[in-house]
Amino acid sequence: MLGSLTLPPLPEIVTTDWQSIKDLYSISKYPHLHLNSGSAGIMPTVVQDKVAALTRQMNENPPYEMWDSWAELRYTNGKRLAAHINAKHEEVTVVRNTTEAMNLVIFGYPFTAQDHVVYGSQEYPYGVGSLKQAQKKHGFDLSEITMHDVDEVSDEEIISRYKAALRPNTKLILISYVSFREGRILPIKAITELAHANGTEVLLDAAHAYAHFIHDVKDLGIDYYATSLHKWLTAPHGTGLLYIKEDHIAKLLPPLPSINDEQDIKKFDHLGTRPFQLEIGISYALTFQDTIGFEKKANRLLALTQYWTDRIVDMPGVKLHTPIGKGRCGAVAAFSIEGRSSTALLKTLMDDYGIHTKVSGYPQGKSFLRVSPNLFTLESDLDIFVSAIQQETTK
Ligand SMILES: Cc1ncc(COP(=O)(O)O)c(C=O)c1O
Repeated sequence: MLGSLTLPPLPEIVTTDWQSIKDLYSISKYPHLHLNSGSAGIMPTVVQDKVAALTRQMNENPPYEMWDSWAELRYTNGKRLAAHINAKHEEVTVVRNTTEAMNLVIFGYPFTAQDHVVYGSQEYPYGVGSLKQAQKKHGFDLSEITMHDVDEVSDEEIISRYKAALRPNTKLILISYVSFREGRILPIKAITELAHANGTEVLLDAAHAYAHFIHDVKDLGIDYYATSLHKWLTAPHGTGLLYIKEDHIAKLLPPLPSINDEQDIKKFDHLGTRPFQLEIGISYALTFQDTIGFEKKANRLLALTQYWTDRIVDMPGVKLHTPIGKGRCGAVAAFSIEGRSSTALLKTLMDDYGIHTKVSGYPQGKSFLRVSPNLFTLESDLDIFVSAIQQETTK
């Protein structure tokens, strides 16, 4: 029942003490130092417990919970999720993840064989795979912008490459807000402006943007926005969000049939019976974030990156692959050590120091380690990581 779904107040100390925040995650008892939040978020324990309780509740009377009892909360969730990026409630719907949200746009889009579509080589392979499959279906032209050096070039250079790729018939650009390879925030507003001047629409892969740093879909001007709520919002795994600018909703045909009105964004989430307890669980992740304060969270995530990068940047052979600073990165950044294989370094960090990171880079050869701490990471944890890198650079 709605009354019983209120999140218990979090300890007051939450607002001042990061150790107390770490204690709110079961990960604090994990034997390894977890520095790969970019791949998937971790729910705070209180949210995990709520989802477990919701699963029990769902199994007491599923039809009643799914369609009656939780209806109001699902509605409120949608409003809160939309408000977070300054979207209208009527422009968002909850889906399962970024992959699904991108596919709903790509396979719902009224492409023709005369169209042209653009993406950059920094994009997430599944998004690119969807475009390639849609190309087989519709026969449009698909161009890849060479971006294997996102870790080195200026924003101006990136913008000019997107500008040069546009043709009079370019219908859509797929671009990530944050390149998953090295965590760089891309100059989306400028790219959207030049796309619109050409009559081109923009699908933003915001997998690493939502609930990570402050942004506003209206200010960015983007047309379609796909994200996962299980990454930086740390909502239940298998929850995501799709935003479609109001004017575009009617022209997209949902890839899975729906009985909803063509103007209604709900036509994209017509999946029938599903684990609604996960969707309800989102409200607790939102409340957790609100309790800490979003701005404070965003500042903390950036500060963690600044902390470890500041301490390793001048070590012998260390190269950073992410521009560091507000508006340039958040909690995801990458580095390499000259002459060391990233795959071998990943293994050494795990085997010898108990530190979990991720190998990233470009298929064309550049390889580095991606590091992504989270609210449960303390400076003292990062000191362990920094000390490991120091030992490795002097071997
Ligand atoms: C940039 C980017 N897009 C899309 C995805 C896919 O996210 P999901 O598996 O939640 O659909 C990821 C996953 O890491 C990603 O980094």
